[in-house]
Amino acid sequence: MFKGFSFRKRKEQEPIVPPTKLDVNNDSTIPGHVAIIMDGNGRWAKKRNLPRIAGHHEGMKVVRKIAREANSLGIKVLTLYAFSTENWKRPRTEVEFLMKLPQEFLGTFLPELIEENVQVRLMGNENQLPSYTVEAVKKAVEATKNNTGMILNFALNYGSRDEMIQSIKAIANDVKENKIAIESIDEALFNDYLMTSELGDPDLLIRTSGELRISNFMLWQIAYSELYFTDEFWPDFTEESLRNAILEYQNRSRRFGGV
Ligand code: IPE
Ligand code: IPE
Ligand code: MG
Repeated sequence: MFKGFSFRKRKEQEPIVPPTKLDVNNDSTIPGHVAIIMDGNGRWAKKRNLPRIAGHHEGMKVVRKIAREANSLGIKVLTLYAFSTENWKRPRTEVEFLMKLPQEFLGTFLPELIEENVQVRLMGNENQLPSYTVEAVKKAVEATKNNTGMILNFALNYGSRDEMIQSIKAIANDVKENKIAIESIDEALFNDYLMTSELGDPDLLIRTSGELRISNFMLWQIAYSELYFTDEFWPDFTEESLRNAILEYQNRSRRFGGV
């Protein structure tokens, strides 16, 4: 079997060089779209005998740090999972706190985001969000819409299954109204109906806190994303943590089903 096939042996003089630094000057190796499941705020707080909301508040500050670092590394899109369609199951006080965070975050950091040429975006089911939450983000989206730098995309009340169901309904409706033919439904068309249609798929998906799952995040879009899991809780995640994730990404071999 496999006659004539032999594994290439690593030569003695061919050292395995561990990656030491980020190749920030080489655009092609910086992931264009990075998505992060920011997890572990509650456990970070518990470890310090603080209420869970203290962890969320600390996590908010990390969003600022990481957005700045991502922007300066040349990342084009940073998608942050801030609230899932399943997070409504949490105690009402915690949900209320989380819903007020965008207001606080943008109230403090919007001038900085404008200054840094960042474009704010929102993805998720807006209808169920309190108006003050949506308004705060919409205001930031509006204020940054002419910026040309990194897109900072907040996933708020986002669920991938919900997104796909909404897309399927919209496609079915457009078929019914003869706007599209069933035959024209393909992957590209489906993509056009998703909330990420203008953003492209994540190249790198990071999840903090040691959980090894996706929790209903961008299921379609991460088909070929590189996955990176770290045990750090989100409030402990630093600029260096991000650079380490990118470093690992740069040493992966993406084949997309090819050889
Ligand atoms: C992530 O931290 C933030 C949100 C999901 C809103 P968690 O609140 O899930 O923290 P843990 O997982 O309970 O530690
Ligand atoms: C995923 O974290 C959602 C966000 C980070 C916003 P969760 O903490 O909700 O995920 P599970 O419940 O551990 O899967
Ligand atoms: Mg969690």
